[in-house]
Amino acid sequence: MAAKTILSLGFLSLAAAQAVVYGQCGGIGWTGPTTCASGSSCVKSNDYYSQCLPGSGGATTTTTKTTTKATTTTAAAAATGWEEVIGEGSFSSFSSFWNYLYPWGSDHNGSARMKQDKVSVSGGVLTLKADRLSTQDGYSTANPKPAIWYWSGAVHAKQTVVINDQFPNWEIRGEFKAPTAKGTWPAFWLTGTQSWPPEIDILEFKGTTNNWFNTFRSSSDVSTTQVTVSNAATTFHQYRIWATKANANDVTVHFYVDGDWKGQHNAAGFVNKPMWIIINLQMEGSSGSPGPSGTTTYQAQKVYVGRTRAY
Ligand SMILES: *[C@@H]1O[C@H](CO)[C@@H](O)[C@H](O)[C@H]1NC(C)=O
Repeated sequence: MAAKTILSLGFLSLAAAQAVVYGQCGGIGWTGPTTCASGSSCVKSNDYYSQCLPGSGGATTTTTKTTTKATTTTAAAAATGWEEVIGEGSFSSFSSFWNYLYPWGSDHNGSARMKQDKVSVSGGVLTLKADRLSTQDGYSTANPKPAIWYWSGAVHAKQTVVINDQFPNWEIRGEFKAPTAKGTWPAFWLTGTQSWPPEIDILEFKGTTNNWFNTFRSSSDVSTTQVTVSNAATTFHQYRIWATKANANDVTVHFYVDGDWKGQHNAAGFVNKPMWIIINLQMEGSSGSPGPSGTTTYQAQKVYVGRTRAY
């Protein structure tokens, strides 16, 4: 009897020391398990994040044989079947990948009304322009229904993002020149197609040089990581997330600027919640007012979306 109990406890503690498939198994600051469940092995994604991916070996210890930071795609591809959803050249085949406006129309939470002719593409670069109107164009039809004082540009991807057992890991990134003047509110973000939340903001400047990485679990339960990007308006910088299914209900989102890890949020309840990918140049609202009297420009290039397909 006593011997049997000890044996069981020994087994349990061994199991608890292993990270589950798709769980984190290493990285700077990580204090959890560094070995992986049987049938998976620990693959370094970057200095801050190693993950148990299905494939050879099973209970192996963390390896750090990959050397460069930009190996997420390659490492995942080797283990599970990486697939590209939107390639870096998508703006040059615009109508295959993107639609104009927001998924729900032309209006949202700021003082800009979106118009197709405020969107242009040249040399693989998407440009959104916001112009101040000389007379008010009524009110936004979306809450909080601000007065419309700009015509501007928004696009959304035809493909949506859903993190689940079939597609447990997603990389979403792009390079942006984002305006930071008072009254300018550019964003590159994900929002629920069937409900709100989920929302994940990959780029959101609100009239300053601070980028707001946000994860909305509800209107009052939000994780935010602010990162100052002092020359955000004049130089392309890469804004990136790596979103991974953490358990049956929850997603872990890692945030990066120019390849440097800036933080992680628990996107509790985001599993199986489809999300739109939106790039828009909203104005005023949370970014202050009055906004610029002239033209404001927001540019995007090399937007990329990829994922692992588990089956
Ligand atoms: C307003 O829209 C931006 C995207 O343009 C989004 O990030 C933000 O969460 C929205 N805020 C509110 C209060 O709806």
